[in-house]
Amino acid sequence: MKLYQQVDIPNLADLQAAILSIIPTNRKTETDLFYLPIGYYMVLPEFLEMLEILNLTDHVGTVATTVVAPGVSLPIHEDSGDMPWSLNIPCQGCEGTYIAWYKPNIKSTYVDRAEKDTGYYYYPLEACEEIERLDMAGPAIVNIHTPHGVINPTDQTRILTAIRLRNFEL
Ligand SMILES: [Fe+2]
Repeated sequence: MKLYQQVDIPNLADLQAAILSIIPTNRKTETDLFYLPIGYYMVLPEFLEMLEILNLTDHVGTVATTVVAPGVSLPIHEDSGDMPWSLNIPCQGCEGTYIAWYKPNIKSTYVDRAEKDTGYYYYPLEACEEIERLDMAGPAIVNIHTPHGVINPTDQTRILTAIRLRNFEL
């Protein structure tokens, strides 16, 4: 099965600047995953233009901001919910950082984080075999229902916008 598809966004630099401008400065440093209201994005001309170019205007589900501090890896997990595909837009410090996919040899543990999100299914690294990895230097549609993790081995804080795609199959 295909795990990702890199996409070309002609207005990427303007889009990155527009997205970074709506993220509060005090949320750009610590490792975190949070959701700004979808309406913040749907008024950005660069965001609307990008959706139109990629034919994804009718497929925007939720928009998450993920911040990963230098040297940090996120736990291996599957996202919960009914949207297996995410359009990932690198916004800052993403070159040299990876999303990696894994084949686990044990069952997952559900981690409830109802106060922030819809939870996720966790796997310990030692029970997983890496099957693929993608440098997040450029935008890509990625599968988030296959176990995956994020690795930031760089000295930069990584900020990436993840647009979960509703009613979409790659
Ligand atoms: Fe994920």
